[in-house]
Amino acid sequence: MFEHLHALPADPILNLMVQYRKDNNPLKVDLGVGVYKDEQGHTAIMQAVTAAETHLLATETTKTYIGPAGAEGFNYHISRLLLGNDHSAIKDQRITVAQTPGGCGALRMAAEFTAKCSPETTVWVSDPTWANHIPLLKGARLNITEYPYYDGETKGIRFDDMCSALESAKAGDVVLLHGCCHNPSGADLSTAQWDVIAELLMRKNLIPFVDIAYQGLGDGLAEDAYGVRLLADKAPEMLIASSCSKNFGLYRERTGSVIIISPNQQQAAVSASNLFSLIRGHYSMPPAHGAAIVETILGNAELTKSWDNELTVMRNRILQLRHQLAQEIAATGCSQDFSFIPRQKGMFSFLGINKDQVARLRDEHAIYMVDSSRINIAGLSSTNLGYVAQSLSKVLKG
Ligand code: LMR
Repeated sequence: MFEHLHALPADPILNLMVQYRKDNNPLKVDLGVGVYKDEQGHTAIMQAVTAAETHLLATETTKTYIGPAGAEGFNYHISRLLLGNDHSAIKDQRITVAQTPGGCGALRMAAEFTAKCSPETTVWVSDPTWANHIPLLKGARLNITEYPYYDGETKGIRFDDMCSALESAKAGDVVLLHGCCHNPSGADLSTAQWDVIAELLMRKNLIPFVDIAYQGLGDGLAEDAYGVRLLADKAPEMLIASSCSKNFGLYRERTGSVIIISPNQQQAAVSASNLFSLIRGHYSMPPAHGAAIVETILGNAELTKSWDNELTVMRNRILQLRHQLAQEIAATGCSQDFSFIPRQKGMFSFLGINKDQVARLRDEHAIYMVDSSRINIAGLSSTNLGYVAQSLSKVLKG
Protein backbone atom coordinates (compact mmCIF):
# COMPACT_ATOMS: atom_id res chain seq x y z
CA MET A 1 0.00 0.00 0.00
CA PHE A 2 2.79 2.45 0.83
CA GLU A 3 3.92 2.38 -2.81
CA HIS A 4 0.87 4.52 -3.67
CA LEU A 5 2.43 7.49 -1.87
CA HIS A 6 4.51 10.16 -3.58
CA ALA A 7 7.16 12.12 -1.70
CA LEU A 8 5.99 15.64 -0.85
CA PRO A 9 7.99 18.86 -0.78
CA ALA A 10 9.08 20.02 2.68
CA ASP A 11 6.98 22.68 4.43
CA PRO A 12 8.06 26.05 2.96
CA ILE A 13 8.30 27.77 6.36
CA LEU A 14 9.44 25.00 8.70
CA ASN A 15 12.10 23.75 6.28
CA LEU A 16 13.88 27.11 6.59
CA MET A 17 14.76 26.20 10.20
CA VAL A 18 16.47 23.03 8.95
CA GLN A 19 18.38 24.87 6.20
CA TYR A 20 19.44 27.62 8.60
CA ARG A 21 20.73 25.17 11.22
CA LYS A 22 22.88 23.41 8.61
CA ASP A 23 24.51 26.66 7.41
CA ASN A 24 28.03 27.18 8.85
CA ASN A 25 28.36 30.82 7.80
CA PRO A 26 29.02 32.83 11.02
CA LEU A 27 27.11 35.78 9.54
CA LYS A 28 23.93 33.78 8.92
CA VAL A 29 20.61 35.47 9.73
CA ASP A 30 17.31 33.67 10.30
CA LEU A 31 14.34 35.75 9.14
CA GLY A 32 12.27 32.65 8.37
CA VAL A 33 9.88 31.02 10.78
CA GLY A 34 7.85 33.38 12.97
CA VAL A 35 9.44 33.18 16.38
CA TYR A 36 10.35 36.15 18.55
CA LYS A 37 14.06 36.57 19.23
CA ASP A 38 15.78 38.95 21.61
CA GLU A 39 18.82 41.14 20.90
CA GLN A 40 21.06 38.05 21.34
CA GLY A 41 19.03 36.10 18.79
CA HIS A 42 17.61 33.90 21.54
CA THR A 43 13.98 32.86 21.95
CA ALA A 44 13.91 33.18 25.72
CA ILE A 45 11.27 31.78 28.07
CA MET A 46 9.15 34.68 29.38
CA GLN A 47 9.68 35.40 33.08
CA ALA A 48 6.01 34.92 33.94
CA VAL A 49 6.11 31.55 32.17
CA THR A 50 9.08 30.38 34.26
CA ALA A 51 7.36 31.59 37.43
CA ALA A 52 4.14 29.79 36.47
CA GLU A 53 6.05 26.59 35.66
CA THR A 54 7.87 26.73 38.99
CA HIS A 55 4.54 27.15 40.75
CA LEU A 56 2.99 24.27 38.77
CA LEU A 57 5.87 21.95 39.54
CA ALA A 58 5.42 22.63 43.26
CA THR A 59 1.64 22.38 43.32
CA GLU A 60 0.48 20.01 40.57
CA THR A 61 -0.87 16.83 42.09
CA THR A 62 -2.10 14.85 39.09
CA LYS A 63 -1.55 14.13 35.43
CA THR A 64 -4.99 12.63 34.88
CA TYR A 65 -7.00 13.35 31.71
CA ILE A 66 -8.45 16.83 31.23
CA GLY A 67 -11.15 16.01 28.65
CA PRO A 68 -11.79 17.23 25.08
CA ALA A 69 -12.57 20.85 26.10
CA GLY A 70 -9.27 21.13 27.97
CA ALA A 71 -8.84 23.09 31.19
CA GLU A 72 -11.87 25.08 32.29
CA GLY A 73 -9.72 27.78 33.91
CA PHE A 74 -7.68 28.29 30.75
CA ASN A 75 -10.85 28.51 28.67
CA TYR A 76 -12.29 31.08 31.09
CA HIS A 77 -9.23 33.32 31.01
CA ILE A 78 -8.37 33.01 27.32
CA SER A 79 -11.90 33.88 26.20
CA ARG A 80 -11.75 37.03 28.33
CA LEU A 81 -8.30 37.93 27.06
CA LEU A 82 -9.65 37.72 23.51
CA LEU A 83 -13.11 39.19 23.92
CA GLY A 84 -12.73 41.37 27.02
CA ASN A 85 -14.19 40.69 30.47
CA ASP A 86 -17.70 41.93 29.87
CA HIS A 87 -18.35 40.87 26.31
CA SER A 88 -22.02 40.30 25.52
CA ALA A 89 -21.35 36.91 23.87
CA ILE A 90 -19.81 35.70 27.15
CA LYS A 91 -22.56 37.22 29.32
CA ASP A 92 -25.26 35.69 27.13
CA GLN A 93 -23.53 32.29 27.38
CA ARG A 94 -23.35 31.98 23.63
CA ILE A 95 -19.72 30.91 23.53
CA THR A 96 -18.17 27.45 23.48
CA VAL A 97 -14.45 27.38 24.21
CA ALA A 98 -12.00 24.54 23.82
CA GLN A 99 -8.31 24.53 24.59
CA THR A 100 -6.50 23.19 21.52
CA PRO A 101 -3.05 21.93 20.52
CA GLY A 102 -1.82 25.33 19.30
CA GLY A 103 -3.45 27.70 16.85
CA CYS A 104 -3.32 24.97 14.19
CA GLY A 105 -5.45 22.68 16.36
CA ALA A 106 -7.92 25.54 16.79
CA LEU A 107 -8.04 26.30 13.06
CA ARG A 108 -8.49 22.66 12.16
CA MET A 109 -11.25 22.11 14.73
CA ALA A 110 -13.06 25.26 13.56
CA ALA A 111 -12.75 23.95 9.98
CA GLU A 112 -14.03 20.49 10.97
CA PHE A 113 -16.91 22.11 12.86
CA THR A 114 -17.77 24.15 9.76
CA ALA A 115 -17.67 21.03 7.56
CA LYS A 116 -19.92 19.20 10.02
CA CYS A 117 -22.46 22.06 9.89
CA SER A 118 -22.35 22.25 6.12
CA PRO A 119 -19.82 20.20 4.09
CA GLU A 120 -20.23 22.38 0.97
CA THR A 121 -19.14 25.56 2.76
CA THR A 122 -16.80 27.95 0.99
CA VAL A 123 -14.18 29.68 3.09
CA TRP A 124 -12.82 33.00 1.79
CA VAL A 125 -9.17 33.58 2.63
CA SER A 126 -7.04 36.67 2.05
CA ASP A 127 -4.71 36.78 -0.93
CA PRO A 128 -2.14 36.07 0.36
CA THR A 129 -2.72 34.24 3.61
CA TRP A 130 -0.58 32.16 5.98
CA ALA A 131 0.58 29.15 3.94
CA ASN A 132 -0.71 26.62 6.47
CA HIS A 133 -4.28 27.99 6.38
CA ILE A 134 -4.85 26.18 3.09
CA PRO A 135 -3.90 22.62 4.19
CA LEU A 136 -5.72 23.07 7.50
CA LEU A 137 -8.95 24.07 5.73
CA LYS A 138 -8.55 21.61 2.87
CA GLY A 139 -7.98 18.85 5.39
CA ALA A 140 -11.58 19.43 6.47
CA ARG A 141 -12.59 19.20 2.77
CA LEU A 142 -13.87 22.78 2.66
CA ASN A 143 -13.94 24.81 -0.55
CA ILE A 144 -11.50 27.69 -0.54
CA THR A 145 -11.64 30.92 -2.50
CA GLU A 146 -9.58 34.10 -2.16
CA TYR A 147 -10.44 37.75 -1.62
CA PRO A 148 -7.90 40.39 -2.71
CA TYR A 149 -5.93 41.71 0.24
CA TYR A 150 -2.31 42.84 -0.02
CA ASP A 151 -1.25 45.35 -2.63
CA GLY A 152 2.40 44.79 -3.61
CA GLU A 153 2.52 48.27 -5.17
CA THR A 154 1.16 50.44 -2.36
CA LYS A 155 2.18 47.95 0.38
CA GLY A 156 -1.28 48.48 1.86
CA ILE A 157 -4.61 46.70 1.59
CA ARG A 158 -6.70 46.47 -1.60
CA PHE A 159 -9.66 47.40 0.53
CA ASP A 160 -12.14 48.30 -2.22
CA ASP A 161 -11.32 45.08 -4.10
CA MET A 162 -11.61 43.10 -0.89
CA CYS A 163 -15.08 44.53 -0.23
CA SER A 164 -16.24 43.98 -3.84
CA ALA A 165 -15.14 40.35 -3.70
CA LEU A 166 -16.91 39.77 -0.39
CA GLU A 167 -20.05 41.42 -1.80
CA SER A 168 -20.15 38.50 -4.26
CA ALA A 169 -19.99 35.85 -1.51
CA LYS A 170 -23.17 33.91 -0.86
CA ALA A 171 -25.02 33.80 2.45
CA GLY A 172 -23.47 31.19 4.74
CA ASP A 173 -19.97 31.48 3.28
CA VAL A 174 -17.24 31.77 5.89
CA VAL A 175 -14.72 34.63 5.78
CA LEU A 176 -11.34 34.01 7.39
CA LEU A 177 -9.79 37.24 8.69
CA HIS A 178 -6.49 37.79 10.49
CA GLY A 179 -7.35 39.44 13.82
CA CYS A 180 -4.11 41.46 13.81
CA CYS A 181 -0.52 41.35 12.52
CA HIS A 182 -1.50 39.88 9.15
CA ASN A 183 0.69 36.90 8.31
CA PRO A 184 2.49 37.18 5.86
CA SER A 185 2.07 40.88 4.93
CA GLY A 186 1.93 42.88 8.19
CA ALA A 187 -0.80 45.01 6.57
CA ASP A 188 -3.69 45.27 9.04
CA LEU A 189 -7.22 46.56 8.69
CA SER A 190 -7.76 49.93 10.40
CA THR A 191 -10.60 50.20 12.92
CA ALA A 192 -12.65 52.05 10.28
CA GLN A 193 -12.06 49.20 7.83
CA TRP A 194 -13.06 46.61 10.46
CA ASP A 195 -16.30 48.57 10.89
CA VAL A 196 -16.99 48.37 7.14
CA ILE A 197 -16.17 44.65 7.01
CA ALA A 198 -18.40 43.94 10.01
CA GLU A 199 -21.32 45.74 8.35
CA LEU A 200 -20.72 43.91 5.07
CA LEU A 201 -20.48 40.47 6.69
CA MET A 202 -23.64 40.99 8.73
CA ARG A 203 -25.63 42.40 5.79
CA LYS A 204 -24.61 39.50 3.54
CA ASN A 205 -25.10 36.84 6.25
CA LEU A 206 -21.46 35.78 6.02
CA ILE A 207 -19.86 33.99 8.94
CA PRO A 208 -16.70 35.56 10.40
CA PHE A 209 -13.80 33.25 11.21
CA VAL A 210 -11.03 35.19 12.94
CA ASP A 211 -7.55 33.76 13.33
CA ILE A 212 -5.76 35.74 16.03
CA ALA A 213 -2.27 34.42 16.66
CA TYR A 214 -0.40 37.64 17.52
CA GLN A 215 -2.56 39.49 20.05
CA GLY A 216 -0.37 42.03 21.84
CA LEU A 217 2.36 42.14 19.21
CA GLY A 218 0.74 44.78 16.99
CA ASP A 219 -0.64 47.81 18.86
CA GLY A 220 -1.54 46.30 22.24
CA LEU A 221 -3.69 43.55 23.78
CA ALA A 222 -7.01 45.44 23.54
CA GLU A 223 -6.17 47.32 20.33
CA ASP A 224 -5.27 44.10 18.51
CA ALA A 225 -8.59 42.56 19.55
CA TYR A 226 -10.70 45.39 18.07
CA GLY A 227 -11.87 43.37 15.06
CA VAL A 228 -12.54 40.12 16.86
CA ARG A 229 -14.50 41.88 19.62
CA LEU A 230 -16.51 43.93 17.15
CA LEU A 231 -17.50 40.91 15.09
CA ALA A 232 -18.29 38.86 18.19
CA ASP A 233 -20.64 41.68 19.21
CA LYS A 234 -22.53 41.61 15.95
CA ALA A 235 -22.38 38.09 14.54
CA PRO A 236 -24.97 35.50 15.49
CA GLU A 237 -22.51 32.80 14.42
CA MET A 238 -18.74 33.10 14.48
CA LEU A 239 -15.54 31.07 14.74
CA ILE A 240 -12.34 32.18 16.46
CA ALA A 241 -8.94 30.46 16.52
CA SER A 242 -6.25 31.80 18.83
CA SER A 243 -2.70 30.87 19.65
CA CYS A 244 -0.47 31.35 22.71
CA SER A 245 2.67 30.45 20.75
CA LYS A 246 3.83 34.01 20.14
CA ASN A 247 2.38 36.21 22.88
CA PHE A 248 3.25 33.72 25.66
CA GLY A 249 6.26 32.29 23.80
CA LEU A 250 4.81 28.79 24.21
CA TYR A 251 5.66 27.60 20.70
CA ARG A 252 6.48 23.99 21.53
CA GLU A 253 3.81 23.60 24.23
CA ARG A 254 1.07 23.72 21.57
CA THR A 255 -1.40 25.97 23.31
CA GLY A 256 -4.36 27.61 21.60
CA SER A 257 -8.11 27.88 21.74
CA VAL A 258 -11.10 27.59 19.48
CA ILE A 259 -14.20 29.62 20.26
CA ILE A 260 -17.57 29.03 18.63
CA ILE A 261 -20.18 31.76 19.05
CA SER A 262 -23.75 30.53 18.59
CA PRO A 263 -26.97 32.54 18.19
CA ASN A 264 -28.31 31.60 21.63
CA GLN A 265 -27.58 29.53 24.73
CA GLN A 266 -29.55 26.47 23.51
CA GLN A 267 -27.67 26.40 20.21
CA ALA A 268 -24.40 26.90 22.10
CA ALA A 269 -25.02 23.64 23.97
CA VAL A 270 -25.54 21.84 20.65
CA SER A 271 -22.40 23.46 19.20
CA ALA A 272 -20.42 22.41 22.28
CA SER A 273 -21.49 18.76 22.03
CA ASN A 274 -20.50 18.68 18.36
CA LEU A 275 -17.18 20.45 18.87
CA PHE A 276 -16.18 18.18 21.75
CA SER A 277 -17.18 15.09 19.77
CA LEU A 278 -15.04 16.27 16.83
CA ILE A 279 -12.10 16.84 19.18
CA ARG A 280 -12.55 13.37 20.68
CA GLY A 281 -12.46 11.90 17.18
CA HIS A 282 -9.30 13.78 16.21
CA TYR A 283 -6.92 13.95 19.13
CA SER A 284 -9.20 13.11 22.06
CA MET A 285 -7.99 15.98 24.23
CA PRO A 286 -5.27 18.63 24.27
CA PRO A 287 -1.96 18.47 26.17
CA ALA A 288 -2.22 20.18 29.57
CA HIS A 289 1.05 21.92 30.33
CA GLY A 290 0.99 25.06 28.15
CA ALA A 291 -2.59 25.86 29.05
CA ALA A 292 -1.83 25.34 32.76
CA ILE A 293 0.93 27.94 32.41
CA VAL A 294 -1.40 30.45 30.74
CA GLU A 295 -4.13 29.80 33.28
CA THR A 296 -1.65 30.36 36.13
CA ILE A 297 -0.45 33.64 34.62
CA LEU A 298 -3.86 35.04 33.75
CA GLY A 299 -5.29 33.94 37.09
CA ASN A 300 -2.68 35.91 39.05
CA ALA A 301 -2.57 39.72 38.87
CA GLU A 302 1.18 39.95 39.52
CA LEU A 303 2.09 37.37 36.89
CA THR A 304 -0.31 38.96 34.41
CA LYS A 305 1.42 42.31 34.94
CA SER A 306 4.86 40.78 34.48
CA TRP A 307 3.71 39.00 31.28
CA ASP A 308 2.05 42.15 29.91
CA ASN A 309 5.21 44.20 30.61
CA GLU A 310 7.43 41.69 28.83
CA LEU A 311 5.01 41.51 25.91
CA THR A 312 5.12 45.31 25.69
CA VAL A 313 8.92 45.19 25.51
CA MET A 314 8.68 42.63 22.69
CA ARG A 315 6.12 44.71 20.78
CA ASN A 316 8.15 47.91 21.13
CA ARG A 317 11.32 46.13 20.09
CA ILE A 318 9.65 44.85 16.90
CA LEU A 319 8.45 48.37 16.10
CA GLN A 320 11.90 49.80 16.71
CA LEU A 321 13.45 47.13 14.46
CA ARG A 322 10.97 48.08 11.75
CA HIS A 323 12.14 51.72 11.91
CA GLN A 324 15.81 50.74 12.08
CA LEU A 325 15.58 48.40 9.10
CA ALA A 326 13.94 51.06 6.91
CA GLN A 327 16.60 53.59 8.00
CA GLU A 328 19.55 51.22 7.47
CA ILE A 329 18.35 50.26 4.00
CA ALA A 330 17.88 53.92 3.06
CA ALA A 331 21.39 54.67 4.40
CA THR A 332 22.90 52.17 1.92
CA GLY A 333 21.72 54.42 -0.91
CA CYS A 334 19.31 51.75 -2.09
CA SER A 335 17.05 53.14 -4.80
CA GLN A 336 14.02 51.13 -3.67
CA ASP A 337 11.73 52.59 -0.99
CA PHE A 338 11.28 50.54 2.19
CA SER A 339 9.58 53.26 4.25
CA PHE A 340 6.45 51.07 4.36
CA ILE A 341 8.07 48.66 6.87
CA PRO A 342 7.37 50.77 10.00
CA ARG A 343 3.75 51.25 8.87
CA GLN A 344 3.09 47.52 9.01
CA LYS A 345 2.34 45.52 12.15
CA GLY A 346 3.56 42.44 13.97
CA MET A 347 6.30 40.01 13.09
CA PHE A 348 6.06 39.96 9.31
CA SER A 349 6.52 42.10 6.21
CA PHE A 350 7.25 41.31 2.59
CA LEU A 351 10.48 42.82 1.31
CA GLY A 352 8.80 42.79 -2.09
CA ILE A 353 11.76 41.21 -3.88
CA ASN A 354 11.57 38.30 -6.31
CA LYS A 355 12.35 34.61 -5.73
CA ASP A 356 15.81 34.86 -7.37
CA GLN A 357 16.74 37.74 -5.11
CA VAL A 358 15.51 35.76 -2.08
CA ALA A 359 17.69 32.82 -3.25
CA ARG A 360 20.73 35.10 -3.69
CA LEU A 361 20.29 36.49 -0.17
CA ARG A 362 20.25 32.91 1.10
CA ASP A 363 23.02 31.45 -1.08
CA GLU A 364 25.44 34.41 -1.16
CA HIS A 365 24.72 36.08 2.19
CA ALA A 366 23.22 33.30 4.37
CA ILE A 367 20.08 35.38 5.03
CA TYR A 368 17.04 33.12 5.27
CA MET A 369 13.46 34.13 4.50
CA VAL A 370 10.36 32.58 2.92
CA ASP A 371 10.40 32.49 -0.93
CA SER A 372 7.61 35.07 -1.00
CA SER A 373 10.17 37.51 0.56
CA ARG A 374 8.32 37.44 3.90
CA ILE A 375 10.74 38.32 6.67
CA ASN A 376 10.39 37.80 10.41
CA ILE A 377 11.24 41.27 11.72
CA ALA A 378 11.84 39.77 15.18
CA GLY A 379 14.82 37.86 13.75
CA LEU A 380 16.70 41.15 13.29
CA SER A 381 19.03 42.64 15.91
CA SER A 382 21.47 45.53 16.12
CA THR A 383 24.20 42.98 15.27
CA ASN A 384 22.70 41.83 11.97
CA LEU A 385 20.61 44.83 10.81
CA GLY A 386 23.46 46.56 8.97
CA TYR A 387 24.51 43.30 7.33
CA VAL A 388 20.94 42.57 6.19
CA ALA A 389 20.49 46.09 4.80
CA GLN A 390 23.87 46.01 2.96
CA SER A 391 23.22 42.54 1.55
CA LEU A 392 19.74 43.49 0.37
CA SER A 393 21.04 46.62 -1.25
CA LYS A 394 23.77 44.61 -3.07
CA VAL A 395 21.28 42.05 -4.35
CA LEU A 396 18.93 44.79 -5.55
CA LYS A 397 21.77 46.43 -7.49
CA GLY A 398 21.98 43.16 -9.48
C1 LMR B 1 5.03 31.34 10.76
O1 LMR B 1 4.16 31.76 10.00
O2 LMR B 1 6.24 31.40 10.51
C2 LMR B 1 4.62 30.72 12.08
O3 LMR B 1 3.25 30.85 12.26
C3 LMR B 1 5.13 29.34 12.26
C4 LMR B 1 4.44 28.34 11.40
O4 LMR B 1 3.98 27.33 11.96
O5 LMR B 1 4.35 28.51 10.17
